[in-house]
Amino acid sequence: MSGYIDLHSHWIPGIDDGAPDVAEGLAILRALGDIGFAKVVATPHMRTGMFDNERGELERAFQKMLIEVRRHPGLPDVSLGSEHHLDDVVFDRLTKGLGLPYEPARTAALIEFPTDHFPLRYRERLFDLRVKRIRPVLAHPERYRPVWKDKALLEPLLDGGALLLLDVGALVGKYGRAPKKAAFEMLEAGFYYAACSDAHRASDAREVGRAIKELYAVMGREEAEFLLIEGPRNILEGTVKD
Ligand SMILES: [Fe+2]
Repeated sequence: MSGYIDLHSHWIPGIDDGAPDVAEGLAILRALGDIGFAKVVATPHMRTGMFDNERGELERAFQKMLIEVRRHPGLPDVSLGSEHHLDDVVFDRLTKGLGLPYEPARTAALIEFPTDHFPLRYRERLFDLRVKRIRPVLAHPERYRPVWKDKALLEPLLDGGALLLLDVGALVGKYGRAPKKAAFEMLEAGFYYAACSDAHRASDAREVGRAIKELYAVMGREEAEFLLIEGPRNILEGTVKD
């Protein structure tokens, strides 16, 4: 199968912990294309103190890389978003319209929590984003330590309209046993709305390919393709139903 839409990847070179150079960025896109992705959204980090990227810098880096992408026919379609870490600075930026919600609808944005604790007032913050007409799409919830202990923590977020994005690598043990177990349990519970690669290197695509096979095996074709195609498309186009 092909036509998958990847809502989370790091192929723009030199701006976060993703591709170190243009060649690797292009190799990531080619490798994801080879395993069935028709569209790959770049989501470079905005994370205070670690990746102090602002919107303008990310847009310029994207445009520069787009010239390279267009020189190489056959790569997946691309667009720009960001992985917004929910710290004070980035949250403030998002609420002021200075984040990078998913194109073209700009009604949903990728949000990341710290891995070992949920941020202060996270529920209020996610609610505030919804008031601003930005639906939070929570990156790799299966990797968050508080979730390993209590998946019910995520229920108020789901009730508030947040969407959960599976990093498929978790299914094949890329992040260890606890995230793998959490990912399978959350799949079973129907918590996820979409699935992504979170690719940082071209070599990541091997695990992503294996993980997608696992996703089909566990969930069946219809549900797997919802998570890889329809769910992501609804997020991009702003057609998620409440
Ligand atoms: Fe990421």
